[in-house]
Order: sequence, then structure tokens, then C-alpha cells
Amino acid sequence: MLCGVDLDIDAEGITVIIGPNGAGKTVLLRVLAGLQAPDGGVIDWHGDGLPAAGIAMVFQHPVLLRSSVLHNAGLGLAPLGLSCAEARRRALQTLERVGLADRASDSARRLSGGERQRLALARAWAMRPQLLLLDEPTAALDPSATEAVERIVREIRTDGARILMTTHNLGQAMRISDDVVFLDRGRVIERAPSSRFFARPQSAEAKLFIQGELPWRVAFDS
Ligand SMILES: Nc1ncnc2c1ncn2[C@@H]1O[C@H](COP(=O)(O)OP(=O)(O)OP(=O)(O)O)[C@@H](O)[C@H]1O
Ligand SMILES: [Mg+2]
Repeated sequence: MLCGVDLDIDAEGITVIIGPNGAGKTVLLRVLAGLQAPDGGVIDWHGDGLPAAGIAMVFQHPVLLRSSVLHNAGLGLAPLGLSCAEARRRALQTLERVGLADRASDSARRLSGGERQRLALARAWAMRPQLLLLDEPTAALDPSATEAVERIVREIRTDGARILMTTHNLGQAMRISDDVVFLDRGRVIERAPSSRFFARPQSAEAKLFIQGELPWRVAFDS
């Protein structure tokens, strides 16, 4: 459940949403994706409601159809009104950018976890979203697959998408985020530029969370 969340997402960058299990991170992304209706409140997008297109979401366990990698990469393109040839070209080009072009005709079900996640990113990227929502995209991946996903996420940002992602990996949050939203029990407790958040978290909740998540001890100046 979310409660009194007031977030202003400006034009650029990568915002990482962190917080304990059950804080409301996934619910927040789902509401922004239009997959779940808020009980109250408004979402304002350039002075309007949520757009029908322009938002893509990638889940921790992406759903892949029992068809080729290429077919899965193009699944988000159907509503965009592209010709078949253009959709195919765009799907192939995006597969190249995530390093899966040589697997285009393989069955998507045969991909490894890291490859599946790269395919899910390609599917979202091919749509050229204005806003990309990523829910724990590297939760089950090893360090090298995680690094590959982070590289792709940065490239998607460079391509012009605004990115909001959740993670329990604080190292990743430090590496990739421009700013951090710390959520706890459905509320935004703190929001700050990444470097400031990790060096000097302001709230007691964020300090405890950071200390509890890291395998080494940290002390903050009070
Ligand atoms: N449709 C819904 N209506 C009301 N409450 C919900 C709904 N969906 C989820 N919740 C509740 O909202 C809370 C936040 O859940 P959410 O899945 O967003 O947490 P999270 O921060 O993503 O946690 P995790 O780190 O474990 O993924 C939970 O208590 C959950 O049971
Ligand atoms: Mg979640």
C-alpha cells in the first residue's frame, strides 16, 4: 500500500527506489505503469493523465512467449502502428544493442536468466519509451550478467528514456542512480541525489536500512 506519496519525476536520469520488503516499491511502479489503479490521488503526466504509450515496464521475472527471441523482442511494437518490416528491423536492431542478435531465431525459453533479462530490456527499449520502469531487473543475476544489464540501462537512458528502477543491491544503486527515493511502509521517507543519500542519509530509517543491507559496517556523521 502507498500512502501520501508525492513524487515529481523530472526530465532526465535514473532514479533508484530502495526500501525494505513490502515498502511499496513494486506497487509504486505498477501504479505508474497504469497496471494498478491508485485508491486515491492523481498522476499527472505533462499536465495530463498517464499516456497510453510511452511507458514500458520490465519485471524481475519477465514473461517470455514460447517463440523466437526476435518475436519476443518485437512484442511491444504491435500498438505502435509500424509496418511489419519496420517492426522487424527495430526488433533486430535492439537485439544487436543488447548483444542477442545472434540468438534471434533461437527459442526464447532456452535463454539463460541474464539473457532473458536482456531480452526483456530489448523488448522495452524497442518501444522507445519515454519512461522505463524496472522492478529489480538483476535480482537473480550473477555479477557479470548484472553488469551487462547496468550497461544496457545506462544506454537506454542515453537514448533519452527517463528511468525508474528498484533494487535491493545498494552497490548497484550507487553505481547507476542519479537520485534515490527511499520508501518505507508506503511513504517516501527521503529523496536525494545519489552521492548525498549514500554519504549522508538524513532519516534514521534510511541510515538503519543502509547499515543493515551492507556486508560491512558504516558509520554516518550525525
Ligand atoms: N493491489 C494492492 N492493494 C493493496 N495493497 C497491496 C496491493 N498489492 C500489494 N499490496 C501490498 O502493498 C505492500 C507493498 O508491496 P510491494 O510489493 O510494493 O513491496 P516491495 O517494496 O516491492 O517489496 P519487495 O522488496 O519485497 O519486492 C505489501 O504489503 C503488499 O501486500
Ligand atoms: Mg517488489
